[in-house]
Amino acid sequence: MALLTKIAISGKGGVGKTTLSALLAHIYAEQGRDVIAIDADPAGGLAEALGFPPDMIAQVTPVAEMDELIYERTGAKPGTSGGFFTINPRVDDIPDRFSISHQGIRFLRLGDIEIGGSGCICPESALLKALITHLLLYRNEMMILDMEAGVEHLGRATARAVDAFLVILEPGRRSLDTARRVRQLAGDIGINQVYAVGNKVRGESDWAFLQAESPVPTLGYLSANPELTEADMRGEGIFDAAPQAAEEARKIMEALEAL
Ligand SMILES: Nc1ncnc2c1ncn2[C@@H]1O[C@H](COP(=O)(O)OP(=O)(O)O)[C@@H](O)[C@H]1O
Ligand SMILES: [Mg+2]
Repeated sequence: MALLTKIAISGKGGVGKTTLSALLAHIYAEQGRDVIAIDADPAGGLAEALGFPPDMIAQVTPVAEMDELIYERTGAKPGTSGGFFTINPRVDDIPDRFSISHQGIRFLRLGDIEIGGSGCICPESALLKALITHLLLYRNEMMILDMEAGVEHLGRATARAVDAFLVILEPGRRSLDTARRVRQLAGDIGINQVYAVGNKVRGESDWAFLQAESPVPTLGYLSANPELTEADMRGEGIFDAAPQAAEEARKIMEALEAL
């Protein structure tokens, strides 16, 4: 059994992507793995959930907002389109230069990948695409990618490098619709390793509902847990604040590794 190295986490807004991303990052770090956690959700929040100190977080600029870097690497000013710019900008130094590290976890914030709408042909999206491709294909850490939507930002070759796409479900129809859409989009680019994780599960019947309705195989769940919400309200790391959630995430990791 080969060790997994790249996990992407998606699902509808508020479903628990950042929560699961942070827990899994800590659990892999606990296993002694080098972990890089990538915040690819414009809404952000992963660094806080990981428990990074606020003064470290304050130093982070999302890569999508690094105008000078984008200009230097692509030859065009962010926000412009239609002009000439490099579609293969140099990005290999970005993860080390612009990430922060704490408790064995490296953190990088990408910012808004969809600037200018999806399919935008502009310098910042060229840089971000190249960066995601680099992270997936040429770095060998355990990578946890906290992404807003589905897989539409990833090209075919890049998406292939993802070992598992996790889509988070909560008891309710909307998260199931999102999961179906993620599966469809993933299938369109030749990816079949899509799995579901339940969240905010209040008991046996919620979990039975999710297992019955999930469009993809389920790996496990996180219970509805006020410790998670409270840690989020305090802006604190959730791994230490919610030991039961950490234990549930450990089981999810074991299910993942057993695939
Ligand atoms: N299992 C859970 N029990 C209680 N609250 C949860 C649970 N999972 C997530 N939350 C809370 O729900 C909110 C949204 O979770 P978050 O992980 O930020 O979602 P997303 O990243 O998908 O938008 C946060 O306030 C979080 O603390
Ligand atoms: Mg989030």
